[in-house]
Order: sequence, then C-alpha cells, then structure tokens
Amino acid sequence: MSVPKDVTWDRDPHTAAKHALLRRYLQAWAPIMLRYNDTVVYAEGFAGPGVYRGGEQGSPVVAYHVLASALQDRPGRVQMVLLEEDPRRKAELEQHIAAAARSRRLRSGRLDVRIGQGSCHPVLLEELTRTDSMRRPMFVLLDGFGGPEVPFDLLRRIADAHHSNEVMVTFQPSFLFRFAEKNEQHRAAGDAFFGDSDWHGVFQQPSSAKAAYLRDQYRTSLQQAGFQHTLAFEMIDEGSRLLYLIFGTRHERGVEKMKEAMWAVDSTSGVRYRDPKDPNQQALDLELEPDTGPLRRILLEHLRTAPAPLTVDQLKRYTLLETVYRPTQVIPLLKRMRDEQQLTVSPGRIIGTTTVTAVPQDALF
Ligand SMILES: C[S@@+](CC[C@H](N)C(=O)[O-])C[C@H]1O[C@@H](n2cnc3c(N)ncnc32)[C@H](O)[C@@H]1O
Repeated sequence: MSVPKDVTWDRDPHTAAKHALLRRYLQAWAPIMLRYNDTVVYAEGFAGPGVYRGGEQGSPVVAYHVLASALQDRPGRVQMVLLEEDPRRKAELEQHIAAAARSRRLRSGRLDVRIGQGSCHPVLLEELTRTDSMRRPMFVLLDGFGGPEVPFDLLRRIADAHHSNEVMVTFQPSFLFRFAEKNEQHRAAGDAFFGDSDWHGVFQQPSSAKAAYLRDQYRTSLQQAGFQHTLAFEMIDEGSRLLYLIFGTRHERGVEKMKEAMWAVDSTSGVRYRDPKDPNQQALDLELEPDTGPLRRILLEHLRTAPAPLTVDQLKRYTLLETVYRPTQVIPLLKRMRDEQQLTVSPGRIIGTTTVTAVPQDALF
C-alpha cells in the first residue's frame, strides 16, 4: 500500500485479516491476563485514526471492544495507551474511542484510554511511563506502514519491562532489500530496526529468498530483545507486496493462543503463512481443513535428524514452538503417515508417550 495522506483510507483485505487476528488473540489474552493481574495494558505505537473510509473499525477500536467485553465478566482494569503522530488522525481516533466508550458504559477507571500524539519512539515509552504502565503486563501493537520504523531499542525496553509483555510488529521487507544496499541512511534505519548489521547478508541472497531471509533475521532480533518465541504471518497487500506481521512472546501459552487465532482467521481474508521450517517453502492458505503437507515434511525431517526416536509429546511441543501448526494437528497426521508407511510407531494407540521413527528414505523405494 502506498502511504495514505488523507486522515482515513480504504481498508484492504490484509488489514481486515490483521484485525481478525488481533480480535481473536485479545479475546484469549484479556481473560487470561486479568485472571492473574489486577491491571493489564494494551498499547499501540502507530494507532491510526480508529476508522477506515468505509466505516470499518481501526485496530484501537477493535481492541477497545474486546477489552470492554472481557471486563464485563470479571474484575480488573485495563489501561490503553495509544500513540499517533498525525494530529488529524489523533483527533479522529479520540472521537471513535469516545463513541466506543459511550456504547460500553463501563464504570469509570476500568478501561482507561490515554491517546498521545508524537513519534512512536521515544514518545510511546514516555507515555507508558507517565501512565505507570511499564510495571504492568502489556500487549504492544507496533503497526506502522511497514517501514522499517520500529527501533530495536524500543523492543528491548518493552521486553525488559515485564516478563509477560508481548509485541506484534508490522514489517515490509522489500524496501530494505531494494533500496538499502546503496543508501547509507536506509542501511542505518535497517540497523536500528534489526539491532545490528547481520541482516546485510540479504544483499547476497537470490531475489526469491530475500524476503524470507529478512523475516528470519527479524525473528532472531526479537529473540535477542528477549521474546524467545516468535510467529510470522505473511500478508499480501493489494499491490501484491509482502508484509509480515511478527509476534513475539516469552510464553508457550501465548504461542498456542496466537496459533488458535491464526487458524481461525478466514482463509479468504488475505493472511497466509509460509512455515520457515518447510524445506519447500509452501505458502499456506489457512483453511478449515488445513493443508498439513508442510508439517509432514517438517516432522519427517526432524525425525530423520534426531539422534533417537521421539515421543508424540516431543513432536507436539516441537510443532507448537517451531512450526505454524498446532499440537492438535499432530496425532491425526501421524496416523496418516503411519498408514502410508512413512513412520513406524510403537504398538498400540498413538498417545503422548508413543515413540515415533521415520522410515529411512531409501526404504520407501
Ligand atoms: C498502518 S497505520 C495504523 C493502522 C492501525 N494500527 C489499524 O490497524 O487500524 C499507521 C499509522 O501510524 C502513523 N505513524 C506513522 N509514523 C509514525 C510514528 N513515527 N509514530 C507514531 N505514529 C506514526 C500514521 O499516521 C498512521 O496513522
């Protein structure tokens, strides 16, 4: 998408998909977090005007409604901290948040919204400090136009502030690999985004591998910032450009819930996933009957390189943390793979402790 100049712009399919993902994830996140904390924080560094040209809700309004619903059923408090650089969009956002608040009528103080104006870095951290949010668990959406515009230092500060903090960052890789090789200023922006210059390796990659290379570099950056688990969603904008949405957390439960959200997003809505571990790099449309072809390849590769047979529980954990798939998809797939003689499994029903071995490749012919 070219960067819009008007206050609002048309919502495209990948934005609708992003909002569906955010809504689903927050519907799981808010009740869990409110069970363990009296106050939780939802923050955005690039909040936008809160509405699209066709009247669809922007991400802060989507979040407001989910958080308000979560507060209706349980005690606790949510602090929203929203930042927008453009004063016209900030004013628009204020109106839409006020309308959402009127429609929800929560008791005063239960869902506090602070809308600041300024540049995401360092103003977001200043606003989070001013609202006493830095010591609370936060979900932080950093959804710019893809930039890169989120400095690594900001990620590290968020990760360091609380062990439960999670981030979601939008990143459009093509700008860097198209323009940064010969432009020092763009390279410096890339270095600030990744936290070092290791990503310069992209200039030596073949064209077809450049985007995935930067995606994996960024996942490493998130890990170095402190977000040990990451998931990358691939979106295609209406100009056929790739946009990544990358999620970082320290918690396996966060990964599990984000995957549930991801698999629930309608496959027609513009989000796709290419599993970094799939040797064939097949892009998946997320469907009700998911194509587990890539998972089959990934598990076979993993079993073949493992020093000893693995249990089903080990394969489920690997699936959760290292692939886009969910642990619940593992047993049905293993049954099919056993029936097709790709695997041998210990006798009896396939359960968590069942051991699994890949049939050697040459034995298949
Ligand atoms: C992709 S839009 C956000 C969309 C919004 N998250 C949603 O899904 O509805 C990015 C927004 O960030 C704002 N922006 C751009 N650069 C910024 C910066 N450095 N700091 C804060 N906001 C910025 C833009 O004015 C724009 O409204």
